[in-house]
Amino acid sequence: ALALGTRAAIMLTNTVTGQPLELSEAPEEGRDTQAVLKFLETGTNIYNEDPVCLPKAHELYLSMCSGCHGHYAEGKIGPGLNDSYWTYPKNETDQGLFETIFGGAQGQMGPMYGALNMNEMLLVMSWVRHVYKDDPKGATWLTSEQRSAFKSFDANAKHIEPSDVMPPKCGG
Ligand code: HEM
Ligand code: CA
Repeated sequence: ALALGTRAAIMLTNTVTGQPLELSEAPEEGRDTQAVLKFLETGTNIYNEDPVCLPKAHELYLSMCSGCHGHYAEGKIGPGLNDSYWTYPKNETDQGLFETIFGGAQGQMGPMYGALNMNEMLLVMSWVRHVYKDDPKGATWLTSEQRSAFKSFDANAKHIEPSDVMPPKCGG
């Protein structure tokens, strides 16, 4: 098998140290999904606004992130992830967000490669993007088509729950 780094057309670096991420530290599972292969090639996330996979994405967010970042990513012991302000400006790109999740940041924000596989990271990212509550113009991770359809998230309105119909696979 090719080393993962060889397959990545993009250069992924740690958010704090700037050192290259060691993708081989990620679990074997979830490396070869369509979403991961596309991400490693382009830095984009095909799960964004994918209605079929958002229930699974929500479930992963609730189990891995909400304890620190809040139920709707409004912020708790970690910063809010649902607005247009980022401590690390690169998190407004999907490449940057992946890098922060994979390799961690400071303090309690540890690397997630031990807890989530790369496919699951992309799913979690799609939920973080889905709960974005600010001006859709700031949703630069969306395609222009997705952006014109995007409704800023409202936690009080009906929204996708983990219990909503789940497909057999979102990358496995
Ligand atoms: C920072 C995402 C889990 C605590 C961040 C940032 C992102 C992020 C994107 C940077 C925010 C910015 O630039 O403004 C996530 C995701 C998680 C997760 C998607 C689940 C997969 C956790 C957990 C904890 C935590 C479990 C607590 C144990 C923090 C803290 C920071 C942070 C304290 C601030 C770190 C710094 O400024 O360097 N998180 N996080 N996060 N997170 Fe998380
Ligand atoms: Ca924020």
